[in-house]
Formats: sequence, structure tokens, C-alpha cells
Amino acid sequence: MAIPYGKQDITQADIDAVVETLQSDFLTQGPKIKEFEDKFATYVNAKYAVAVSNGTAALHCATIALGVDTNANVLVTPNSFVASSNAVLFCGGRVTFSDINPENFCLDLDLLEAKIEASPKGTFTGIVVVDFAGYPVDTERLSNIARKHNLWIIEDACHAPGASYQDSNGKTITIGDNTYTDITVFSFHPVKHIACGEGGMITTNSDEIYQKLLLARSHGVTRENMTTLADTDGSWYYEMQDLGYNYRITDIQCALGVSQLSKADQGLKRRQEIAAFYNEALKELPIKLPKVEDKKNHAYHLYVIRTDRRKELYDFLRSKNIYTQVHYIPICNQPFYKNCDLVTQEVFPNANKYYSECLSLPMYPSISEKELNEVVNALKEFYK
Ligand SMILES: Cc1ncc(COP(=O)(O)O)c(C=O)c1O
Repeated sequence: MAIPYGKQDITQADIDAVVETLQSDFLTQGPKIKEFEDKFATYVNAKYAVAVSNGTAALHCATIALGVDTNANVLVTPNSFVASSNAVLFCGGRVTFSDINPENFCLDLDLLEAKIEASPKGTFTGIVVVDFAGYPVDTERLSNIARKHNLWIIEDACHAPGASYQDSNGKTITIGDNTYTDITVFSFHPVKHIACGEGGMITTNSDEIYQKLLLARSHGVTRENMTTLADTDGSWYYEMQDLGYNYRITDIQCALGVSQLSKADQGLKRRQEIAAFYNEALKELPIKLPKVEDKKNHAYHLYVIRTDRRKELYDFLRSKNIYTQVHYIPICNQPFYKNCDLVTQEVFPNANKYYSECLSLPMYPSISEKELNEVVNALKEFYK
């Protein structure tokens, strides 16, 4: 049996939850959506949560809610899935990448600050930061930079539900609580911590942003708040107040999401145990292992090693039925991005070096001890 780099963990309780919804009155726009949103908001300690059809839709709703348009110029990390910056382009905004930190592979905050300060005042409108692999970015420091330059922050936490860190006051910052950010987004793709098949969540503490997210999710149409309606003919009345999309999620997906969320802490603990196991088992090999500073609670969506023999190792592991992955080809190196007039063209040495060496080992809660040993033994055999 092949060992993938990531995989969902579906239990009988998950199946029962989905079946129960299939037998209920609502397949979509029913009570499971609100239940998932409320439970997720509690999980990450946010005021509002809006469930949508996938993480990309979550990012797009976020850029809409923050008013990204053709005047926007948004700073984004190149080390992410393409969706992180595509969401800016969807709204006609300009994308400017900024290089990554060579230790944690997220946006380098020193380089980011230097870039902003070297640019004319008002050049940039916002920042999309990614908690790459589940590493919680120092959003306290990021928000100090952002506030100084009047920039908003979207935190793409698709890799990081359950991650947290301690800020300079010793306060625990849960990723998604938006203490230092405007909006946080999550994905519930099967390789992520919580699987819905497809699914996404947006959290915010702002009433205004929340209302805009609701409109963006569902055609710009509202019937909820009669006080904001321009007119009303009767109880059937609905109103399109903005141009929106159909980014709704179904009750079937949310039933799975609620069930998966109930064991998210358990899954996170298991991911951290797997990381500790790899750290110990691989420490003598000539590869670089991920480092985590104190006071950071890493969510380990990915366990990324670095090696200058990456292609050889990838092929060797594949020959042993171990399917590792490469996260990520820098977004700016994609042909579309190289040819896009809306993208500031630059070269990023840290992102390119990281990309030339990185390899994501299998990391998912249901991986067995036997499979983990297979991975470690194959790595040891390669380096023998
Ligand atoms: C960092 C990041 N952002 C956004 C996305 C998009 O999420 P989705 O696949 O749910 O649209 C992903 C998914 O791979 C991701 O890894």
C-alpha cells in the first residue's frame, strides 16, 4: 500500500453524521452550517465565522470584503499554494511578492518591512500572510508593521487550524482569533486538519467585514437584516446589494466538518507526536529538519525536510511506494505569474533556495507506526 504525504481520517462517527444530514430536511442552507460556524468560531476564539465552499472562495470573499480593486497592491508570500495570491488577482489587484524567512519559510518580516519602507508611501494596501506548514506567524510584529503603514492583513491559515503562539505580553494568540489580523481563512480539503471534501472558513471580529463576507458568499443577496434593506414588499423580500458569488457550502459537508472538528485537538496532538518522532529518528541524517521556536504551537499540516539531493530522494522514496510532495514551487515562478501585468516581477533567493531543497514527508493522524518506520527506514537506506 502506498503511503501518501497527507490523507483524511474518516471514522464511523463522521459517516453517521453525514448520513443523518442526508436524511434530514436540509442538504444546504440548513442548520448544520450555522452549527459548524459557531463551533469553529469557538475553536479559534473568533467573534464571527463564515463557512464557504473551499479555501480559495474564503480567500476571494476576504479580498472582496477588504475592498481589493484595481487600485490595490498587495504583498504576498511566494511560498504558498497559488490560491493565496490568485484571490488578489480575482479582484483586479496588483500582487507584489516579498521573500521568505530561511528558517520558517513564511514571509520574512524584516524583508517585508524594508520593502514597504523603501517604497513610496501608499504603494501597498494589504498583506496576505501564510502560516506555512502550520507554523504560526508572528502576527503581533506583522500588525505593528501593517498599522504603521495603514495596511490590512489576511492570514491564510489553511495549514494552521489549532496553531497558536505567545505574544510579547504572554497572551496566547490562537490562529484565527484575529487579535492582530483582519481576516483569517481556512481550508477543509481532505489533506488538511479538518476534512469536508471541499470546504473553507473565514473568521473575523469586525461586524462590517462579517456583513460583507455574507454578501460575497451568496450573490450579494440578503434577506436577513430588514433594517439594511432599501425597501421591503413583504416577508418574501430579498435584495441584491452587491455583486456576489455562489460560494455556499452544503449541510452535508458541514455535518462532516462538525464531526471532524470534534476531534481536531486529538488530530493536532497526533501530528505533533509524528513530528517529534521524525525529529528524533532522522536527527543523524544529512538533512535539515524543521525548527520551531519556543512559545510556538506548530500545527504540522506538513513536515518539510530539506536536502540538496531532493529529486533523487523523491524518486527513491517513490520507488518504495512513499509519495512525498514538494510544497511549494514559488508562485512567482509560475508561467501565468511571470507573464501577468498585475504582478511585480522580482527574484526571491530565499524562496528559490528553499524550493530547490524542500520535501514534505508523510504527515497525517492515521499514519501507523509501521508506516512511519517504513518512511524512516527508507530515508536511512537512501543515506547509507
Ligand atoms: C495555503 C493555502 N491557501 C489556500 C488553499 C486553497 O484551499 P482550497 O483547496 O480549499 O481551495 C490551499 C489549499 O491547498 C492552501 O494550501
